[in-house]
Order: sequence, then C-alpha cells, then structure tokens
Amino acid sequence: MDKMVIKGGVELNGSVRVSGAKNSALKLMFASLLAEGKHVFHNVPELADVESARKLLQSLGCESEFSQNTLIINSKSLASNKADYELVRKMRASILCLGPLLAKTGDAIVSLPGGCAIGTRPIDLHLEAMKAMGAEIELKEGYVHAKAKKLKGTTFLFEKVTVGGTENMMMAATLAEGATILENAAKEPEIVDLANYLIKMGAKITGHGTSVIHIEGVDKLKPAEHTICPDRIEAGTLLIAGAITGGEVTVTHVEPLYLEAFLSKLREAHFKIETTSNTITIKKLKSWKSVDITTAPHPLFATDLQAQFMALMTLAHGTSVIAETVFENRFMHVTELMRLGADITPKTQVAVVRGIPEKGLTAAPVMATDLRASASLVLAGLAARGETVVNRIYHLDRGYERMEEKLSSLGAQIRRAD
Ligand code: UD1
Repeated sequence: MDKMVIKGGVELNGSVRVSGAKNSALKLMFASLLAEGKHVFHNVPELADVESARKLLQSLGCESEFSQNTLIINSKSLASNKADYELVRKMRASILCLGPLLAKTGDAIVSLPGGCAIGTRPIDLHLEAMKAMGAEIELKEGYVHAKAKKLKGTTFLFEKVTVGGTENMMMAATLAEGATILENAAKEPEIVDLANYLIKMGAKITGHGTSVIHIEGVDKLKPAEHTICPDRIEAGTLLIAGAITGGEVTVTHVEPLYLEAFLSKLREAHFKIETTSNTITIKKLKSWKSVDITTAPHPLFATDLQAQFMALMTLAHGTSVIAETVFENRFMHVTELMRLGADITPKTQVAVVRGIPEKGLTAAPVMATDLRASASLVLAGLAARGETVVNRIYHLDRGYERMEEKLSSLGAQIRRAD
C-alpha cells in the first residue's frame, strides 16, 4: 500500500495549476445516463474516484475513453439498471446514479452505499425526494429498488441541506412530468456546474446556486460538451501548503469566488491574499494568528477544508475553536495531528486547537483515515521537523490529482513509497 514520505520544514514557493473538481466530474458522469450518445467532458481529474465511476457506468452499458483529462462517455441504451454493491461500496457518490437511472429507465436497483468513515451519511433524503416524485421505493437485501413509470414534478423541501440529495433530485426532475421545485437546496458551485451541463443537454433549470431550484421536465435530453469547474478544495489545500511552510504560492485556473469564506478566514489569520479573475496568491507570512471556524453548507466554510485548516491552526499564535456542523465524525485527523505534536482537545463536533508556533510540529508515522484527513496530514508533514510518513495514501488518490508532483513543483521534498 502506498505511503507518502515527506521531509518537512521546506518553504513552498511558486505557482501551481488546479485540476477540475472531483465533486463536479462525478456528477456530470452520472448525468450522462440521462441521454444516449457521446458526452464530452474536459478538465476531468485523473483520480481513483473517476475510475470507480467509469467502472460503474461501464457495468450499466456506457463505454468511455479517458485521455489527457478529456473523458468521452458513450451512453447507450442501458445494458443494466443495477448498480452493484462491489462498485458502489468503493465510492459513496455512486448513489448519484439513482436519479438518472430511475428517470431514464423507470426502474433502478442501486446498492446502499454502506458506512463511511466520516459519519453514518444516510441517503434518506435522496429516497424521500424520489418518493415525492412518485417513485415506489423498497429496500431489499442491501439494495434500493426504485420504480416509477414516469416521475412527476412536485415541490420538495429538504429538511437538511444535502449536496448529493439536491443533485439526485435535480437530475431525476429533468425528465419528470411537469415542474419540480427544490426548496432548501444546496448551493455548492458543483451543483451549479451540474445544472449548467444539464441545461446544455436541454434541461430547463433556473435558480441553481440559490436555495430554490426550479426544473421544468422535458421529454428527452441530448448529450453535450462541458469543461469541469475548478476544484476549490484542491485550491484551498495547495494555498495552505504555501501558508503552513511560510512560503508564497499562487494557484491558477481557479474561481476565487468559490472560496470566499475560506479566504476571509485566512485574511483574519493575517495572511495577505491577492486574487485575479482566475488566480489566488497567498503571500509569505512567518507567524499567523489563530481564528475560529465553523463548517456549514456553501457559501460558508466548507467541511472539506476543515481538516486542512486545522493543520494550519496547529502552528498559529493563540487558540482556535473548530466546529464541524456538517458531519458528525469528521475529526479523525485530530489524533494523528497530535502524533506530530499538535496540542488539540477534541470534543463532540468541536476541537480546541492551541497553536504551538515556537515548539513546532515534529515528524512521526501517521495514518490517513479519509480523503481530506489525508490532505491535512500531508500539510502538517510539510511543516514538521524531520521525515513524516503518511500511510494509507490511497485515500488521497481518491480526490487529489498527482498531489506529490504538484507539491514537488513548489519545492516540497515529498515522495511516494510502497
Ligand atoms: C458532498 C461531497 C463531500 C462534502 C459534502 C458536504 C461529493 C461527492 N461529496 O457529499 O465532499 O463533504 O457534500 O459539502 O460531492 N444527509 C442526511 N440524509 C441524506 C443525505 C445527507 O442526513 O439523505 C446528511 C449527511 O449525513 C451529512 C449532511 O446531510 O451530515 C450533508 O451531506 P451531503 O451534503 O449530502 O454530502 P454528500 O453529498 O454525501
């Protein structure tokens, strides 16, 4: 199993290109189930999760070619309507094939995604949304069996903001009869990207990016071509890599507006941030101040950047309180950061981080537990004195494209080992 070996304490400087967003690419891939023909996606990151989604699509009868970040999916009349457990369990986002499969075939069998390291992550709201559109849902032997001759438009209020739930319903509603209104919808940039692709396919959607999305069902969609939006989480992670090592890093091919809450917290910590229409630079700063953060749905502070921000706070002057409100178990990096010497008291969904800028972090072997936790450990390793080994790096490969190459290009001493 691959590990990352990092010699810490080296300042990172320079400019690095941000990849396309994993959390957008996966959803657009599943949207291809809605229309037969060739869907062309550019700026698709080469990641383990994209491969998992390709395998799942292949099992449903969609062929694909992937080269130089362009992915062509040839969606055919579907060979199967069953998303198998073996394929779904590798990636929770696979549940996003439910809406498109049901809308297109009227009959979908999708494995329940099962447990997840960062919390129970139920799919009850996805299923409620399908039921509200007239689907009959049965749970049998670990599978969701969903049936509806023709989904019907409805008004649905999400009792909790859910990214995946919003996306599943949005995709299903494109081919439903009549109008569907999603209330308390998620507003993440990746949802806007998905809506924009669906609109290119012929869907009638308005309000995406706000909490009320309106979809007028159409009879048929057609394939289209699209460039995946930039990965705001990767951008934030790379900016922290610069910050935590006292260097100056520019991320390019990004959308600074996606990261406003994050950038304003960096500014509060005294970092100077410069932006252009598609770049963000974090200026050199040797000593930064602690700030408190509370994660919440977009446009507030992203839960997917909480672990990385915590790594930065371990070396801040003062104490920061980090509250996680989106997932109930997203502090698994805390004990690993403590192995590097960080002073953190984890409580239920709140962690109190007392910065140790003078003492600093020291290298140790650590274990990655989930995708963003791995990123946080790599960041801490970049700042720690000595050689840190981050084990189980496959988590990182699920969501970061060639992370070690990008960090090396900024001067990091990082290598992958068996
Ligand atoms: C997506 C992102 C993930 C990010 C998260 C929140 C992808 C592939 N993943 O995950 O990186 O951390 O958004 O920004 O895009 N919930 C329910 N019932 C449901 C659905 C969700 O209770 O039916 C709960 C979840 O357990 C969680 C909260 O709602 O506590 C938010 O989850 P959700 O927004 O759905 O996250 P994902 O779409 O799984």
